Amino acid sequence: MAEEPTVAAREPMAVEVEAGKTYAWCACGKSGKQPFCDGSHSGSAFSPVIHKAEKSETVYFCMCKHSGAKPFCDGSHEKV
Ligand code: FES
Repeated sequence: MAEEPTVAAREPMAVEVEAGKTYAWCACGKSGKQPFCDGSHSGSAFSPVIHKAEKSETVYFCMCKHSGAKPFCDGSHEKV
């Protein structure tokens, strides 16, 4: 049976990313530094999803961890 991620929140988190920077999005939902990975996934089936920002902009990171467009929100939090 596939391990289910923990729902960290039921709404996305807006983050201003900087061009050229790399972000490690928490896929497991257990990080204390949401929406980013803090290593809490250790020992689970999850590993972070790396996002390299192409430009400086505001992006909406998925917090329910069930998005079909990880690491970004696709509205799946309405259904979890
Ligand atoms: Fe969640 Fe690393 S802490 S993926």
